[in-house]
Amino acid sequence: MKEIFSCLIALITICIIINKWLNKKQNLQIKYNCSWVVVTGSTGGLGSALVQKLLRSNLNVIAVDYCADKLSQIPNNSQNKLVALQFDFGSDLSTFACKFDKFLLSNNIDRQSVGVCFSNAGIGEFNKFDATSFESKRQYMQINFNSHLAVSDYFTKLFLSRSHDKKHKSALIFTSSSAVYAPCPYFSLYHTSKTAVTSLAVALSTEYRKNIDILVVHPSGFAKSNFMYQQRMKPLYDFVVKTRNYGNKPLKQLTPDLIINRMLSRIGKLNCVLIGKGTKTNAIFQSIFGRNVTGYVWSCFKTLDKVFE
Ligand SMILES: NC(=O)c1ccc[n+]([C@@H]2O[C@H](COP(=O)([O-])OP(=O)(O)OC[C@H]3O[C@@H](n4cnc5c(N)ncnc54)[C@H](OP(=O)(O)O)[C@@H]3O)[C@@H](O)[C@H]2O)c1
Repeated sequence: MKEIFSCLIALITICIIINKWLNKKQNLQIKYNCSWVVVTGSTGGLGSALVQKLLRSNLNVIAVDYCADKLSQIPNNSQNKLVALQFDFGSDLSTFACKFDKFLLSNNIDRQSVGVCFSNAGIGEFNKFDATSFESKRQYMQINFNSHLAVSDYFTKLFLSRSHDKKHKSALIFTSSSAVYAPCPYFSLYHTSKTAVTSLAVALSTEYRKNIDILVVHPSGFAKSNFMYQQRMKPLYDFVVKTRNYGNKPLKQLTPDLIINRMLSRIGKLNCVLIGKGTKTNAIFQSIFGRNVTGYVWSCFKTLDKVFE
């Protein structure tokens, strides 16, 4: 009995120590020897909070997004620099590298001073798979997955050159979603694109462990986001508004700040982070019961059918 008690105390102590270490704040500027950080999807809910947090932490920010008007309205109340690159991930992605290089040149930014990139842009899609055209699906996957591919193609090369020339480590952080663990009806493209983002991030982290810290975060639904207001989410948004659930119920348990704190404290320590009860429950369910049972259970989830009735 005494031994069991001692083991329990030791286990709890180890958990507390690991938890403290995981939550310890890190200074990205010092950790990655950089003065510039890139954020894609920088005018959205999570992206804009991230930009403000980074500016306050003594870093200069390159904000990437497709709406020039919104980019010009990002506030900067800090001493640090904020520059904006207008790029539409729905356009020809093969031009991203060239445009980013030109942008750095025209803003007198040394490539080697860019040490961290948050690949965060993303949109939702809630629709019947058979209700949209192939072109619509291709375009969606381009924005929600190929954009991350283009960004990681550019930044792994840049970050490897930093590692070889200056012996500096860099960081690449992806925003995925709890949807990876929830293959639910009508979200098939979102689930697929985010699963691909997660797989890419984890696979890259095994290839570049020594040179680049790679992290992928999986938040469940969070507040202060435009996600539900996007065009491709309209069927669900209309339904939720119709049934008066939206706005009345505090559906969102997470805030962008909590997600950002996880990103900034976990980078370099973990490769994959689950954030929120929804993500953790779905991930545990899938790992215990496997994809067959998970898929079957989600196929019985009939509430969402009402959206299209
Ligand atoms: N909200 C949630 O509950 C939730 C949960 C899990 C994961 N996520 C993920 O978190 C990330 C951030 O989403 P969010 O909630 O902050 O949503 P959001 O407010 O809609 O932000 C999405 C960002 O991506 C940008 N974007 C969209 N299409 C683009 C394009 N073609 N080219 C360039 N930029 C484009 C948006 O630009 P505009 O502002 O100009 O539209 C916006 O800045 C996304 O990857 C999302 O999938 C969200």
